[in-house]
Amino acid sequence: MSAPEGDKIEKLINPIETYPPSPEFIDGTKIPADIRERAAADRLAFWADQARELEWETPFTEVLDWSNPPFAKWFADGKLNVAVNCVDRHVHAGRGDKVAIHWIGEPGDTRTITYNDLYAEVQRAANMLEDLGIKAGDVVTLYLPMLPETIFAMLACARIGATHSVIFGGFSASAIRSRVDNANARLIITADGSLRKGRQFPLKETVDEALAEPGHTIEKVIVIKRAEKDIEMIEGRDLWWHDTIATAAETHEPQAFDAEHPLFILHTSGTTGAPKGLWHSSGGYLTQTAFTFRTSFDLRDDDVFWCSADVGWVTGHSYIAYGPLANGATQVMYEGAHDFPTLDRWFEIIEQYKVTTFYTAPTAIRGYMKSGREIPLRHDLSSIRLLGSVGEPINPEAWEWFREVIGADRTPVVDTWWQTETGSHMIAPIPTLDALKPGSGQKPVPGISVEVIDEQGNRVDPGEMGLLTITEPWPSMARGIWGDDQRFIETYWSQYPGRYFAGDGAGVDLDGDLWLLGRVDDVMNVSGHRLSTAEIESALVDHDLVAESAVIGAADETTGQAVVSFVVLKDSQREAAAQVDVEAELRGFVAKRIGAIARPRQVFVVAELPKTRSGKIMRRLLKNVADGKPAGDTSTLTDASVMDAIEQQVLARH
Ligand code: WT7
Repeated sequence: MSAPEGDKIEKLINPIETYPPSPEFIDGTKIPADIRERAAADRLAFWADQARELEWETPFTEVLDWSNPPFAKWFADGKLNVAVNCVDRHVHAGRGDKVAIHWIGEPGDTRTITYNDLYAEVQRAANMLEDLGIKAGDVVTLYLPMLPETIFAMLACARIGATHSVIFGGFSASAIRSRVDNANARLIITADGSLRKGRQFPLKETVDEALAEPGHTIEKVIVIKRAEKDIEMIEGRDLWWHDTIATAAETHEPQAFDAEHPLFILHTSGTTGAPKGLWHSSGGYLTQTAFTFRTSFDLRDDDVFWCSADVGWVTGHSYIAYGPLANGATQVMYEGAHDFPTLDRWFEIIEQYKVTTFYTAPTAIRGYMKSGREIPLRHDLSSIRLLGSVGEPINPEAWEWFREVIGADRTPVVDTWWQTETGSHMIAPIPTLDALKPGSGQKPVPGISVEVIDEQGNRVDPGEMGLLTITEPWPSMARGIWGDDQRFIETYWSQYPGRYFAGDGAGVDLDGDLWLLGRVDDVMNVSGHRLSTAEIESALVDHDLVAESAVIGAADETTGQAVVSFVVLKDSQREAAAQVDVEAELRGFVAKRIGAIARPRQVFVVAELPKTRSGKIMRRLLKNVADGKPAGDTSTLTDASVMDAIEQQVLARH
């Protein structure tokens, strides 16, 4: 793995303007001023204290078992129920009337769900699943839009000890099938369709397609009515959610599960092969997710939090489902697109619900920078007291714009770095303690140990760039890749023994603050969504016309990166290729295979790919050219003229 290239970046060595917290902002905070000192003094005692903020049916006596690295066990002899922690205990503490979720449908319908409502819904959904024979240890797949029922279903699984596996609603039938097979799921919960940008999208039909070939483990499909779309219900297999839940009992007696009981599986893209199903624990995951939610966002009792992610990604798991609810917070959940019916939609929601804390991705911020500040500025956004960023590196210009325009030149902006694998925030400033630095993630979360190293594994000096590693186990770390311990070890723990290697580059500035620089491996980040070059390449070569392919993430002003692919066609298919628009055909093919998010921005049909004498494709040269830069050193190529031809082709398109 090579460290990030390029000259030392200015920001690592030059002092820049920072934004210290204002006295008004700090006033009333629950974050202890010495929280970092406490965590540093005794890391394990610190995490044990955070875990004790949860309700345990059987208290734990052991904090960390690291006797079999990299397979950690946290709080292993304790027992708890995650859903009880997210729902029942708030009701039992007399906070049942507090709003848990202000839900807003894209067409404008709304629902208000209090903790009392959540309690009733989750119990009935838990009974429904049990009535269908689902029990602790079973896997339930969710393929759903952003509905309140999506949260009810996740919590119902947690309540009965079933492990959920959420699949983002934009993924294809074959993506569903591979994830179902990988987890041996017994049941799928889906909807008749989703509503986006005023249109209906199929979900149930896609599930049907995924299950068309026999040999899967799915017994039942539960369908939530949302789009009022005409769908086929298969006798004996498919059930409507509303019919089935109507006959379920109202109250459900929860049972406690081991802290290490698998709460969920979430698939994400890696550098090679099929997506990995990372699995997360119950006690450790909830401890760090709940802690980081209240700390990074300086949670107050009357906050209205809004995370604009989809529950299909880890951000939605940790900062829509589990983090806010474990803390008894109030949040907004919005079903649809930010630009439907107009680009004002998000700001109308902030204004109407008096959102105090808004957590979104740099790609959205850059999009609004382009469309103009007059859009947010024609709304009253004065309720906002804190902004958060996640998913990809945030450039200082976007950070400044976010603070100035959305945050009225007043609010802190916290950049939060983490991954599907880490479960919750790992690097983030604490807004009540730190002078914020535009574009920097700044400091490890209290209790987290981070080191930036060079390729030899030595710590880099301040002012330098290197590879981001984590040196100590943490409570919300993924416990493994479902069914593939060896791949877990090889992917994350083998390059630099004793350390977790994240796949990201980072810099350390002269103050010791951290700057996240994006992936240094073959993982792309498009609009904060993680995509694998290898997965898209293998989809492309599955097409009849294609002999070879290379995919790179080219720099893109709005989406951070964009998928650009280069293909060599099969000689035998030249005639067939002449009959179709190859680029349109292949873009559509990838979207169908993986999902619309993987659709290449461009497909270049080239005569040859740049390869070394040993046959390795030099993706770096392709990336340079796609970024509008010189290709770079072509001396190791078998045939340097290959790159000249490609450069001409790319230039012709710019
Ligand atoms: C990758 C993880 C974390 C939830 C959403 C994505 C990139 C994430 C930041 C940030 C720079 C970031 C990294 C990481 N990333 N947050 N604040 N600054 N890069 O989760 O799909 O697992 O992707 O997203 O490259 O490795 P994910």
